[in-house]
Amino acid sequence: MTSFSKKLEEIIRVDHAGEMGAKVIYDGQMAALKLKKDDETLQLVKHMKEQEDVHFDYFNSEIKRQKIRPTVMQPIWKIGGFALGFFTALASKKAAMTCTTAVEEVIDEHYQEQVAALSKEEEFLDENQRKAVGELKEKIEKFRAEELEHRDIAYENKAAELSCFMPLSAFIKGATKFAIAVSKRV
Ligand SMILES: [Fe+2]
Ligand SMILES: [Fe+2]
Repeated sequence: MTSFSKKLEEIIRVDHAGEMGAKVIYDGQMAALKLKKDDETLQLVKHMKEQEDVHFDYFNSEIKRQKIRPTVMQPIWKIGGFALGFFTALASKKAAMTCTTAVEEVIDEHYQEQVAALSKEEEFLDENQRKAVGELKEKIEKFRAEELEHRDIAYENKAAELSCFMPLSAFIKGATKFAIAVSKRV
């Protein structure tokens, strides 16, 4: 396998893991919000969750079509993501929104790096590969725009007003970066 096709596999594996993580974070938040009967926040989160479903479905179909092995960490990310979403939303609406700003800011950077890496390789590819890479880049850019929308919704809903915004945000960003680094390797 060429190093470029290995890189492509790595991109799809880590994005598949990431979008699954986003899905389960919002699942956890929705479970807590139902428990708290906070219907207003639930509707907000539901909108984001529906977009995450589309993101995940794309990478899930690519991972199957290209016969790429998903990360072995998947079961752990599922539990961790759900718990993160559940407990932040249980704590408060602002904590739930802080979870979103932290995750989406890391994902924004991650997607930017991927698009830059793909663009750098493009000129060395044959026509078919270039078409495939172009399509992948287009999807990543579309998803990135929606992640930024999620981040903005969360700031509009006062994420930054949380008293422990900085430490909670730093913790969640650290955990997200760790999950990305691990999912690339295994
Ligand atoms: Fe997403
Ligand atoms: Fe998102």
